[in-house]
Parts: sequence; structure tokens; C-alpha cells
Amino acid sequence: MILVTGSAGFIGSNFVLDWCALHDEPVMSLDKLTYAGNLENLASLNDNTRHTFVQGDIGDAELVARLLAVYRPRAVINFAAESHVDRSIHGPEDFIQTNIVGTFHLLEAVRAYWGALNDSEKANFRFLHVSTDEVYGSLAKDEPAFTETHRYEPNSPYSASKAASDHLVRAYHHTYGLPVLTTNCSNNYGPYHFPEKLIPLLIVNALAGKALPVYGDGQQIRDWLYVKDHCSAIRCVLEKGRLGEVYNVGGWNEKANLDIVHTVCDLLDELRPMKPGSGESSVVSGADLAVTHLPLSTYRSLITFVTDRPGHDRRYAIDARKIERELGWKPAETFETGIRKTVQWYLDNQGWVGNVLSGNYRQWVEKQYGE
Ligand SMILES: NC(=O)c1ccc[n+]([C@@H]2O[C@H](COP(=O)([O-])OP(=O)(O)OC[C@H]3O[C@@H](n4cnc5c(N)ncnc54)[C@H](O)[C@@H]3O)[C@@H](O)[C@H]2O)c1
Repeated sequence: MILVTGSAGFIGSNFVLDWCALHDEPVMSLDKLTYAGNLENLASLNDNTRHTFVQGDIGDAELVARLLAVYRPRAVINFAAESHVDRSIHGPEDFIQTNIVGTFHLLEAVRAYWGALNDSEKANFRFLHVSTDEVYGSLAKDEPAFTETHRYEPNSPYSASKAASDHLVRAYHHTYGLPVLTTNCSNNYGPYHFPEKLIPLLIVNALAGKALPVYGDGQQIRDWLYVKDHCSAIRCVLEKGRLGEVYNVGGWNEKANLDIVHTVCDLLDELRPMKPGSGESSVVSGADLAVTHLPLSTYRSLITFVTDRPGHDRRYAIDARKIERELGWKPAETFETGIRKTVQWYLDNQGWVGNVLSGNYRQWVEKQYGE
């Protein structure tokens, strides 16, 4: 079996859902269930005997050691992290605690477990660390995209804590021979994305007729990848990656934030047009329009520019040629197909959105499992 940490978060839950759909191999899920962990994401696996969930902290060395000893995974995939840049600016401590200290304790527990395996189990074992392109810092407009050898220049407490965890993972390979793999991926988007992040926030606010906040001039460039493509890249690296190597994962989709906002607005205009002047969205049928002759409002009218985030990186771009060349991985979605699927998913899953916004998702564990 495999052990997946951070499995109730955005990418971790997509990874576990896809894994269970594609593989017979069981999954042990470990997640602390911070505000970002939502067990409802994994609700479709409730009756799946190949999936086991444990609530716990990657920094709890005793718990992790026990799970490793009992379930004997052949791989650990580490998604667990504090992940929101703005939160790291307001309160960096949790980021240091989970992303650095937690990763350290996890590595120690895994090192002890791996050290006691027999030779063939040892050779087959993998520790895959999921990281971000933000560790590389910010690029000027015409600088080449980040390769795996780009120097680390993290600019936020979030990216600094992820950079530190990447270094620890690297050191455990070089010092102890732990069979590690690291992926550094660009911005993800897709289903189950917590609505504090740009794309889901835009969709949720637009549907509620609320302002669509854009930092500064909106010209910050990010490289976007559909979350299921990130998950397929991780499966590919797990299967074929060379030990100790780093693989950058990206979709060659550099977009300015303002262009993302426009794209989401335009898709919503098409899929869920707003009634003019209502302040709230609702479906307008062709018949309504014909009768009232009202001009169509557009979600773009909700765009509001707000003061930029301190130290806001200007541009990230991933050079994904290594994973393409060495492992034959390529994303399945273009930005256009992925963003359409994403907007449609949020329209189809308003119950999930409602539970997140109301905070009811925090009660999901009690609701599902009682006391
Ligand atoms: N979201 C992106 O665009 C992106 C891009 C590249 C890399 N990453 C990396 O991928 C990983 C997952 O990101 P995400 O967007 O799914 O984040 P997320 O915030 O949605 O999920 C993180 C999960 O980790 C859990 N968690 C937090 N602290 C924990 C701890 N101490 N022990 C156990 N579980 C803990 C949370 O409960 C949550 O379920 C992170 O390591 C992040 O740095 C994210």
C-alpha cells in the first residue's frame, strides 16, 4: 500500500481519488484536518475498503511510526503542508511547524522504518515530497522559466518553509541514502480547491454577486496546471523517477492574474449568466431575455482592484522539459479545457461550496463517524 499525507486537502484528495479509481493498491490517508482539510472531499471513498483514513499530524513521530509499522507502505507521498501565502504572511508559525519541523519528524520516522526493511523492500521504497515552484522566487518578464537547477530564492514565509523542507528531503537522500523524489509544481486549479485561493474565490464570489478582488495591477504571472495533471505527474515520478532527483511539473500555461479573472468571468457569463442589477446570479433563460429586453450584465463588472500583497512575486514559470524528456509525462488538459471543467465542477457542486463557506465541513468527521 501507499501512505498519503495531506490527503484531505485540495491536491491530496484529488490524488487519492484518482489513485483509488486507477489502482487496486490500497491507500492509507493521514491528515491533521486543519481548516484546509476537508474529509467531504473523500466522501466517495467511504465504502471503499482499500482506503483507510487516520486523522493525525505528520509531526507526531510516534503515530507515524506506528502507522508505518502496522501498514508497511511501499511509498510515502507527502502533500501535508500549510499552503496559503497570505496566511503565511499573517502568521508564519504554523508554516514553520508543519512544513519544516513536521517534514523533519516525518523523515525521521520514515528513515527508521526504511532502515529496518529487507533489501528488496528497501530498494523498492520511495519517499515522494510534493513541493512548489514558489521556492525559486520571482522571474522578470523575459527570464527563462525555472529549471530544476534554478537557485532557491523563496520570498514568502510559505515558500521559505517549503524550500527548507525540500533541502531536508535532499539531505536525507545524500546523508542517509533514503530513496527520495521531489516534485516542484506550478499553480494548480480544479475540483475541491479551497475558496481562499484565486480561482475558486472568483467563482464563489461571482456567483454571490460579490466583488472579485484583484491584487495590484493584476499583471502577476503564474503558470497554471489542472490538478489531475499534477496527480498524473506524481504517479509518473513515483513509478519511473530517478532516486534523489527533482522534477519540475508545469503545464506551459503562463497567465496574468487579470487574464484568469477575465476567463472565469467569461465562462460564468456563458454557463450561468447573471440577471442585470440583481447583485446575485441566477440562470436567465432565453425566454426571460426576450420578454424583458434587458442588457446582459457581465461578471467582469464585479472586478475590484485591491492593494497588492507585500513582497508579491511577479512571475513564476516552470520549465517542464526534464519530466517530459526523461519520464514521458505530459499534461492531458490545456488551460482552456481545464478551466472550463473547473468552473463547471463548482457550478455542479454548490453543496460542497456551501459546506465550506458555512464551516459545516468541519463537522464532517462527526457526521460521518459519530463520536
Ligand atoms: N495548490 C497549489 O497550487 C500547489 C502547487 C504546487 C505545490 N503545492 C504543494 O502541494 C501540497 C498540497 O497543497 P494543497 O494545495 O493541496 O494544500 P491544502 O492546504 O489544500 O492541503 C493541505 C492538507 O494538509 C493537511 N495538513 C496540514 N498540516 C498538517 C500536518 N501537520 N499533518 C498532517 N496533515 C496536515 C491539511 O489538513 C490539508 O488537508 C503542499 O505541500 C503544497 O506546498 C501546491
